[in-house]
Amino acid sequence: MAGERTYQPHDPIGIFDSGLGGLSICREIVQLLPNESIIYLADSRNAPYGERSKEEIIALSVKNTELLIASGCKIVVVACNTATTNAIRHLRSHYDIPFIGIEPAIKPAALHSKTNKIGVLATKGTLSSELFAITSRQYRDEIEIVEVEGKGLVTLIESGQLEATKPLLEEYLGRMEAKGVDKIVLGCSHYPFLIPIIREIIPDSIQVIDSGEAVARQTKNVLIERHILHTSDHHPRRSFFTNGDEKILAGFLQQIHLEGQQIAFRSF
Ligand code: DGL
Repeated sequence: MAGERTYQPHDPIGIFDSGLGGLSICREIVQLLPNESIIYLADSRNAPYGERSKEEIIALSVKNTELLIASGCKIVVVACNTATTNAIRHLRSHYDIPFIGIEPAIKPAALHSKTNKIGVLATKGTLSSELFAITSRQYRDEIEIVEVEGKGLVTLIESGQLEATKPLLEEYLGRMEAKGVDKIVLGCSHYPFLIPIIREIIPDSIQVIDSGEAVARQTKNVLIERHILHTSDHHPRRSFFTNGDEKILAGFLQQIHLEGQQIAFRSF
């Protein structure tokens, strides 16, 4: 197994996504674990992952993981549903470092649905993955899962055009509403940035669920289990690298109240 070494509490948490979506997870991690240093990789040059083959998604996830390991990270958060559902099994079997993944939050939605109908908005890569099929199969006897591919959303978000997603969202969410869903699961880490627009489209009676907080809690639990949680009250270092547009990254960091962090362009 590659990359075996002893991890220390002061080592940073590594986070990667196909771009800026994982910042919605990063926000939750910073809130729950304010002492932790972070290295974030936005692989925007290769977004959207959701349109790629499983083999390509694995290769990109390996590239990002190796960079985070080489940068001294103690844990890797795969802040991307598409990368988790297609590549996390491969990553876990090839690297010693602990991984945290993110998957569409079907379970809480299914458990609390009163109409027994839930919607899942996700990328083609996530909806067609084996892991998603296995998870959703567990609930299909009791509830109807209305799957809708969020085609085109990630590209617009990556270029900072959030408002331009509205007509697409109207179509995608309209299909779910027509089926009578009372929960909508955001199965892509980019989509929480669209929640204000989503709320303008769907009635208050439909709850929107994302997995960000759960991922942060799981990250904390694994750090505690492995005795690598940073408990001392030091000043954390947070670095954000993109192989895309630094200005758009800076705008998203401002949105999640993390302005003033180290941002750099890096070719990876
Ligand atoms: N943010 C990603 C996810 O959670 C992937 C989006 C993409 O690159 O297609 O699925």
